[in-house]
Amino acid sequence: MEHEESHRFPRKKRRTRLCLIMGLCAVLSLVVIFAIYLGVVHSHVLSSYSPSSENLKKTIIDKCEAFIQNNKSSSANNCQKIWSAFEQAFVGRDPCNVPMEAYDPLMHTVIQDPVCNRMLFWSKTKKIVHDFTEKRDCFLTLEDTLVGFIMNGLTWCGKEKSNETFTTGCPGWTDCVNNTVRSFWNRASAAFADAACGDVTAMLNGSIATPFSPTSIFATIEVKRFKAAKIKSLSVVLVTKENKGTTCDDPSLQDLQKEIDPKLKYNCKAVPESKIQDCISHPDTACGACW
Ligand SMILES: *[C@@H]1O[C@H](CO)[C@@H](O)[C@H](O)[C@H]1NC(C)=O
Ligand SMILES: *[C@@H]1O[C@H](CO)[C@@H](O)[C@H](O)[C@H]1NC(C)=O
Ligand SMILES: *[C@@H]1O[C@H](CO)[C@@H](O)[C@H](O)[C@H]1NC(C)=O
Ligand SMILES: *[C@@H]1O[C@H](CO)[C@@H](O)[C@H](O)[C@H]1NC(C)=O
Repeated sequence: MEHEESHRFPRKKRRTRLCLIMGLCAVLSLVVIFAIYLGVVHSHVLSSYSPSSENLKKTIIDKCEAFIQNNKSSSANNCQKIWSAFEQAFVGRDPCNVPMEAYDPLMHTVIQDPVCNRMLFWSKTKKIVHDFTEKRDCFLTLEDTLVGFIMNGLTWCGKEKSNETFTTGCPGWTDCVNNTVRSFWNRASAAFADAACGDVTAMLNGSIATPFSPTSIFATIEVKRFKAAKIKSLSVVLVTKENKGTTCDDPSLQDLQKEIDPKLKYNCKAVPESKIQDCISHPDTACGACW
């Protein structure tokens, strides 16, 4: 009895201590797991959304190098130099006060061979145009050139009195006229239009009221820079929904015709969206048969 009692007591005590340790361990494990979870979530948030010049720089250099690897004709480009020329356009500046000229050094740094007869402009047809050029070599948009490919889908800006690059909290496309991203696309579009030569194509949207929209980059920048000395013709492909919607007689397209140099041959063709979709799903179809 004595013996048992004396034995039982410490055993109970030991069990209590064991329970206490196990409980503490469980709590500690939970705390550790939660801390790791917080850490992961936190670093994920930081890496994808917070100002991070290092991430933007890496993204841009990686995209630049991938493009050069896949497009031998652009191998004369230096991605580090492109990054530096890009960065100087907006770092330390009010993100609503970056004129398109700020990107002049960038455009002068990028070496881009003109691709006469294959240049494809677009307005309000972004998806179908890129689905098409992704499958075909016969046409090239700005987003298929080095600088357009690199910046496509990215957001960036600087801040006054800061040497940092931000990827969030930047003004949106219409928040102010001269915002960092919009000015870049205006400047890159201007360069793309300046280089246009031979037969030029423009894919416009026949499902909207004004296919040649007066506020579009195509109208405000690109068409204005077309040079009749280098361009032979402008062919408008008006993408329609089964021949409904606007036609080539649309007043906005007459405005386009008036806008361009009369020496430049103009033609327009309404093409059903399904015909272009067919060409996208059958890449062996000759490009000339797509519209
Ligand atoms: C160059 O390579 C990229 C992929 O890295 C591709 O998306 C792009 O269309 C290519 N551009 C040309 C001009 O072939
Ligand atoms: C935007 O920049 C252009 C130069 O590219 C300048 O002429 C114009 O005044 C600027 N507009 C505003 C609202 O700052
Ligand atoms: C034309 O514009 C409408 C409205 O923005 C859009 O829904 C449609 O996808 C566009 N069509 C093409 C071929 O991009
Ligand atoms: C910004 O300036 C600080 C202090 O001059 C410097 O330590 C830092 O490396 C700079 N950062 C960038 C992204 O240039």
